[in-house]
Amino acid sequence: MASNSRVGHLLTLQELILSLREKVIQRSDGIDELLTNFQITFEDCKKYAFVKDSKGCSRNLIFDEPEVCRLTLSVWKPGFQNRIHDHGQSHCYFKVILGLLEETHFRDGRHVADSVYKEGQVCHMTDTGACHQMKNNHDGYSVSLHVYIPPFDRCNTYDEAGGAAIPVTPSFISRYGFAVDRESRRLLDVLNIRPIIQM
Ligand SMILES: [Fe+2]
Repeated sequence: MASNSRVGHLLTLQELILSLREKVIQRSDGIDELLTNFQITFEDCKKYAFVKDSKGCSRNLIFDEPEVCRLTLSVWKPGFQNRIHDHGQSHCYFKVILGLLEETHFRDGRHVADSVYKEGQVCHMTDTGACHQMKNNHDGYSVSLHVYIPPFDRCNTYDEAGGAAIPVTPSFISRYGFAVDRESRRLLDVLNIRPIIQM
């Protein structure tokens, strides 16, 4: 998408981060709206999109400010489904950037909803007894942008809805656009996409 077509919208990922910070610090509402209105394509966040062969969902850190918010990018292999999980006591938002994601939502150990989020759609869940499970149920990679308010380093997974909490420490395969080790590869390299040469 040409940048001129975005007049009237936020223009960069940096501007999104500034707006998010402001809203969180001022404790104002409208984060769903901010994320929904934020026009973003995979092109805008490709520098953060790394994958690892050993990961069904590769998590990449974009921005992190303690006690304020964390922005991450997840890259989902085709068909991958993560475990039922919560988000500590944080608010969780995600926006689908590429592909689509299916979400199964649970509350107080009971299944409450199944949803499908397509490109551009935003999901918000608060962690008062809520947890969910997500699946990339289409034939290509899916990519999603996540916002956690505030950041957390511990959360729980569950073998089944209402089952025992299993504490986990989520990890990242890249931080701020740099791979954490040699096993992390850029999604664009995996897809073997080369820049189009303009004649
Ligand atoms: Fe989640």
